[in-house]
Amino acid sequence: MRVLLLGSGGREHAMAWKISQSSILEELFIAPGNAGTKQLGKNVVLNADNFKQVKKFVLENKIDSVVVGPEGPLVNGIADYFENDTELAKIALIGPNKEAAQLEGSKDFAKQFMKRHNIPTAKHGTFTKETLSAGHDFLDKMKAPYVLKADGLAAGKGVLILDNIKDAKKELKSMLSDAKFGDASSRVVIEEFLDGVELSCFIITDGDGYKKLPEAKDYKRIGEGDTGLNTGGMGAISPVPFANPTFLDKIDNQIIIPTVKGLRKEGIKYKGFIFFGIINVRNEPYVIEYNCRMGDPESEVVFPRLKSDLLDLIEGVGTNTLSERDVVFDERSAATIMMVSGGYPKAYSKGKQVYGLNTVADSIIFHAGTTSDGPVVTTSGGRVLSVTSMGKDLPTALKKSYEAVGKIEFDGAYYRKDIGQDVL
Ligand code: AMP
Ligand code: GLY
Repeated sequence: MRVLLLGSGGREHAMAWKISQSSILEELFIAPGNAGTKQLGKNVVLNADNFKQVKKFVLENKIDSVVVGPEGPLVNGIADYFENDTELAKIALIGPNKEAAQLEGSKDFAKQFMKRHNIPTAKHGTFTKETLSAGHDFLDKMKAPYVLKADGLAAGKGVLILDNIKDAKKELKSMLSDAKFGDASSRVVIEEFLDGVELSCFIITDGDGYKKLPEAKDYKRIGEGDTGLNTGGMGAISPVPFANPTFLDKIDNQIIIPTVKGLRKEGIKYKGFIFFGIINVRNEPYVIEYNCRMGDPESEVVFPRLKSDLLDLIEGVGTNTLSERDVVFDERSAATIMMVSGGYPKAYSKGKQVYGLNTVADSIIFHAGTTSDGPVVTTSGGRVLSVTSMGKDLPTALKKSYEAVGKIEFDGAYYRKDIGQDVL
């Protein structure tokens, strides 16, 4: 199989790492990729949001399967572009079409979908500029803290959690009337605050059948003890100790199965990954959000725990035969620690040389924001490297990852030292 993988982060390096082990892989291209993916396939310069450019590359390079890493091109309709193009229609694109990607692309769409299918989620109301005062009344009836969500994609920054009503009303106005998050906040979802611990669950589906992937927990805040600013993710573990079989069964029966059935019932053909952001409230699972892609850094622990051939599953999605495929997990634990540039998630510098990568033998170094010139690897993003290890249990996996992280250096490097500690 000739594969084009779109994206450039740790998630895409983890996918490329797994795809490159497949016996049915002929050639792998990653666009644009990073210094890590370059070692597994050919990095190519392509703008994933320029569908014409992607088409040209796909046809010229006889690509069989396009795997879309990030949500942007999906929400913008790359799958529809392929479906509606006679030359591209036979190429398998792994990722949902625009309508299905609204599960992530519109919080209001996702909330209404969950309501229609009785999927447990926080109570909500959706408001626009025209209904701002109704939004203020709605807030008056809720208890603190107040959760405000920009309806559209806002690069992970569109959710505000506010402790007092005055700030909540002010922010609601700023989102709706002053376009705080641009077009993304032309509609705002106000939600009941759910108090609990979060985890991430994943499936891959061809629109009929689906296969579960291992669950994971990520660590979103920059500071230890889950303090400070939100980031793209500072580390992840899999499996998740509190996700016992009873709790996972509830997730299957109350969330995953109704989601897949609901999509089918509504005639929404979903092909690709579904990421369920779930919160455990007194042993009951609620959906916090859907994403139409894999998580990052969750992918850096999920794919190392997948024993089955990822390309076989991808082929299953492409040919609508996913239910015939097997998914086997590695029973061991995986832990990943994200090394970030000093200052991240605020301003940070780039172009710092990374040392020590070759001294790590027992862990997998997934690159996120890196670039390379010959053997010299330099930083090019906020999240730089995600260091994953496997172990017989979580403490063993964490210990190995922290040992590896200790051998890697770049100017200003920062990482959290408490990944996994809250659940041990
Ligand atoms: P989202 O982009 O919807 O995942 O929201 C970002 C983060 O905000 C989540 O990962 C949660 O930590 C938090 N969050 C979102 N919605 C709620 C809610 N209803 N109750 C509590 N926390 C929430
Ligand atoms: N780690 C959370 C995400 O990928 O959205």
